[in-house]
Amino acid sequence: MEIQLWREILNPYELAVKELTVKFEHLIHEHRDRGLYSPIEQVVGRVKAISSILEKAQKKKIGIDEIEEKLEDIAGIRIICQFVEDIQKVVEIIRGRTDMSVKSEKDYITNMKDSGYRSYHMIVYYEVQTLSGGKRIQVEIQIRTLAMNFWSTIEHSLQYKYKRNIPEHIRQKLSKAADAIIVLDNEMSTVRSEIMDAQNSFQI
Ligand code: GTP
Ligand code: MG
Repeated sequence: MEIQLWREILNPYELAVKELTVKFEHLIHEHRDRGLYSPIEQVVGRVKAISSILEKAQKKKIGIDEIEEKLEDIAGIRIICQFVEDIQKVVEIIRGRTDMSVKSEKDYITNMKDSGYRSYHMIVYYEVQTLSGGKRIQVEIQIRTLAMNFWSTIEHSLQYKYKRNIPEHIRQKLSKAADAIIVLDNEMSTVRSEIMDAQNSFQI
């Protein structure tokens, strides 16, 4: 496919990622402005690279004309929280919004993947305005704690290094590290109330 055509396809996804990043960042701002603890710590977004789109389409036997419907993660937003409890709060915020509608949810927090991966995934429909009018696209939102993000960032680097074929002994280490992350997140949760109290003391 021609590069110009790709540009046209990916344009609305770029807009969606920009808009959603701004919107979620503004939620942080709104909380802090009111002296409230923000369940969102950080927001990042990306549009999938053309090479990755093609690779995934090929692997999943998805035709070029089906890509926008079947590849749900062309636009991706990652929301990082401080504490596990914050994740459910963010999920509720997203469910309650009128500018996006939830298509599906996957709870890899309660149901950790075999790899040790944990995150809460939501696929949402989101409409952007383009030159040719409104376009409703799909966006994958991943919600996870700082600790879960630490684990998955490193596991992702290893997957890249070993071309998705991580040796067994390293996989075992990752699995142990994943268990340690659960313990760490639980330990951190025990000090969450103290942080919330500190934040509340800013309120007049
Ligand atoms: P994909 O073909 O990867 O989209 O699988 P899926 O359609 O079953 O979606 P799933 O919700 O399992 O995964 C979607 C995204 O979550 C991936 O593109 C990754 O960004 C992330 N993810 C899922 N599993 C893992 C994992 O084991 N390790 C890491 N680091 N990330 C993962
Ligand atoms: Mg997917």
